[in-house]
Amino acid sequence: MKERTKANGARAIAESERAEERSALTRHTAAFGIDRRLAAADILQELLVDTIDLSLQAKQAHWNLRGPMFRDIHLLLDELVEEAGVVADRLAERCLALGVAADGRLTTLARNTHLEPFPGGRIADHQVVELIGAGLQTVSEVGRSRLGQLGELDLVSQDLVIEVLDGIEKRLWLLEAHRPAETG
Ligand SMILES: [Fe+2]
Repeated sequence: MKERTKANGARAIAESERAEERSALTRHTAAFGIDRRLAAADILQELLVDTIDLSLQAKQAHWNLRGPMFRDIHLLLDELVEEAGVVADRLAERCLALGVAADGRLTTLARNTHLEPFPGGRIADHQVVELIGAGLQTVSEVGRSRLGQLGELDLVSQDLVIEVLDGIEKRLWLLEAHRPAETG
């Protein structure tokens, strides 16, 4: 009973947030329609969540990493944290430029991230290469799969996401280069 009341309360808050969002949108003066702006912002919001999760996972790995590649990967992970923070800021602010609120709350991240959860405790360098590599790959896949739709909705947002993917895929290469060379 208590759970149901809580769920109803959460739904009511979400509905009132959505109504507020819509009324803010009608006052917005961007040069294209409300529905397209909302749909474009939904895609940006998805990528925002994944990017924030990626930065949190990279920091967790930065702290708990161990192994012969420690120094190099430790530094590389901090660069990734910094870059992901800049990317998240740009995605969130693009949502606002479209007249839609951005949502970087922990509960939203936990509910909506596409990334696999990162394991707790100390972690070997080669595992970090695999796990953070998988996280970068996920952001790349999700971003690429939305590019066509985003282009139909808003070319400016598409351009931002292309730029984001360029950075993400470069980071993926820098990390993957720590894998031992395959022989034969
Ligand atoms: Fe540090």
